[in-house]
Amino acid sequence: MAKITYIEHNGRRHEIEVPNGMTAMEGARDNGVPGIEADCGGACACSTCHAYVAPEWLDRLPPADAMEADMLDFAWQPDPKHSRLTCQIKVTEALDGLVLHLPERQI
Ligand code: FES
Repeated sequence: MAKITYIEHNGRRHEIEVPNGMTAMEGARDNGVPGIEADCGGACACSTCHAYVAPEWLDRLPPADAMEADMLDFAWQPDPKHSRLTCQIKVTEALDGLVLHLPERQI
């Protein structure tokens, strides 16, 4: 279980306890966090689960693989350093405290 804080573009915060094995996208989607659309259901094929990882977490997440990196090109205003697809972030205890900033909109 990891507590993940999702911060909407308007500053509204959502602190969600997400079970291990789920993805950060599923934690948001299943708890009604606005701003994560996840149109493809987590198949790394839509980029509508895009979020910006808080700076202090950049070195603590496994890097994006080639498929995720390619799909991020289709996200709305991707940031080469901070952008991730939340469906590719697997939750473990190590992610307790993760902070994700949601974009103003998805594509
Ligand atoms: Fe579609 Fe993440 S849910 S790429």
